Order: sequence, then C-alpha cells, then structure tokens
Amino acid sequence: MKYQDSNGHHIIFFGDSMKILDQEIQDNTIDLIFADPPYNIGKKYANFVDKWPTQEDYLSWCYSWLKLCLKKLHPEGSIYLMASTQTIPYLDIYLRQNIHILSRIIWHYDSSGVQAKNYFGSLYEPIIYGVKNPKSYTFNRDDIKIEAKTGSKRKLIDYRKAIPKVYNSQKVPGNVWYFPRVRYGMEEYEKHPTQKPEILLKHIILASSNVGDTILDPFSGTFTTSAVSQKLGRKSIGIEIEEDYLKIGLRRLGIATHYNGTLLQKPLKNYQKNNQQLELFKDE
Ligand SMILES: C[S@@+](CC[C@H](N)C(=O)[O-])C[C@H]1O[C@@H](n2cnc3c(N)ncnc32)[C@H](O)[C@@H]1O
Repeated sequence: MKYQDSNGHHIIFFGDSMKILDQEIQDNTIDLIFADPPYNIGKKYANFVDKWPTQEDYLSWCYSWLKLCLKKLHPEGSIYLMASTQTIPYLDIYLRQNIHILSRIIWHYDSSGVQAKNYFGSLYEPIIYGVKNPKSYTFNRDDIKIEAKTGSKRKLIDYRKAIPKVYNSQKVPGNVWYFPRVRYGMEEYEKHPTQKPEILLKHIILASSNVGDTILDPFSGTFTTSAVSQKLGRKSIGIEIEEDYLKIGLRRLGIATHYNGTLLQKPLKNYQKNNQQLELFKDE
C-alpha cells in the first residue's frame, strides 16, 4: 500500500521492504539510504519479536535486502547502515565487497540505568557509512562542522606553519558522535522501542544529501528519516511493515489526518494527562 503527500515528495510504503524495494523503487535512483533494521536481539515491536531462528537466517535476510538497497542506490549515492555490535562485522565484510566504506561511526550515548554488572555495558551503536563511487559523492562538510576545541579555544597560534596562523575554530566531526537517545519526556518521542533521535539523522542527511535529493529508509519505524528529510527540504521514501508505526509516519509527515476513520493524534504523555485533569479541577 502506498501513501504520499500532496506534491509526491514524501512517500510511505506499508509492507515488506524486500518486496517493495524489489517492485516499487527504480534502480540507481536513490541519493541516500539510511537503513536501521531490527537487530536480531529479541526486542519486542508492536506485533513481532526481533529474533531470527539462527544467526545465519538473520544474516542471509540482511544480505538480501542490502543487495536490493545497493541496486536502488544512485551511482554517486551514499548508504548508512546501523546494526548491532554483534552483527556489524559481518555486514561490514559484505559491504566492503560491494561498496567503498568511508567511515565506521560510533553513535555513543549515556544511560542513567545500569547496563551490566559483570561486564562493560554497551553504550554505543555502530553505523557504517559507504559510497558507491569514492571519486564522486556528496559530502557537505561545511553544513556539519563543529567547534574545534583544542588550539582554537585557547587562542593558540600554530607555529608549525610556514606563516604562523591561529588554529581553525571549526572542524569536520570525527567518527564518534555523542547524541542522547530519545527519551519519553522529549518532544519527538513516539511509542516505538528503537526510535532514533532526529539530531542523528540531521547530521547524516545534511552531510550526505542536497536539497531536493531522495532519501530512502527501508525500515522506517517512527519515520525519523522521512521527518528530518522533510524539515531539510529533501524528498523521502519510507517503508514500514507494522501498522502502528505506519500511522505514526502518516501523522508525523502530515500525509493523513485520519486512518480507517480514526483521527491520527500523538498520544498524550502521562504528565500531560495529569495536567489536563488539573485544568478540569480548576473550573470546579
Ligand atoms: C530499528 S527499527 C527502525 C527505527 C527507526 N530508525 C526510527 O527512528 O524510528 C526497525 C523497523 O523495521 C520494521 N520492519 C521489520 N521488518 C520489516 C520488513 N520486512 N519490512 C519493513 N519494515 C520492517 C520494524 O517494524 C521496525 O519499526
């Protein structure tokens, strides 16, 4: 099933990404792919638990949709792939044989909870960034520069240069990114177990696409990729197999106000419900 906004810039497919990639998306047309599949770690989604019978089953599923993704990617396109720390080495080897990996990014976050007591808990997720053509690809370094802390902050002069000059105050970020995970109290929060933060997608989309480019997310979840693409003037194609999450996407992208006759609205958070009740009492 296909849904789109009034000008056709943002498309949502409801269904299995394997089938939709194969049948609905033209080859060599996608400028940027962000793929964040289920990790095969037993997470509970709306109607399934993400655990394949064996690792081989999971990997062969990943290789199948990755192959299709690469077929859909423009010859000068880029792909970002997320996976669990356990799986990423296999996908890295697969991708190395098919595209050029430019960065292995660590998305690091903190957690107030105890992750593990008898070993070092995991506080990062890996992201592989690769391109089809290392001689020609989009990388908008000026759009993602960050403050260069060391020399510049202390207003030092770099005397190693033939003509000494002050240190650069900005630089392209390295491959370790710190962004907080999406929390219940945050405005962008949706009811989904593995929602990615908008700020993470913002960096990827700004760096690796231009205004008007088409960005594909074959495992859209809460449609973070599409929502950020829309905010940044890009086009998007999102695929999702779960109806609950499709509804989030339709609402988040402003594609529909109703679904099967029911109003699509963001559920109120507990504190918002409490506030509403307090408001009611005020009138009594
Ligand atoms: C890790 S989550 C993606 C989260 C997303 N990046 C976000 O920010 O919300 C993976 C998503 O893939 C969906 N999914 C699983 N199997 C799928 C399939 N075969 N086709 C399409 N979507 C699928 C799941 O329902 C889940 O929402």
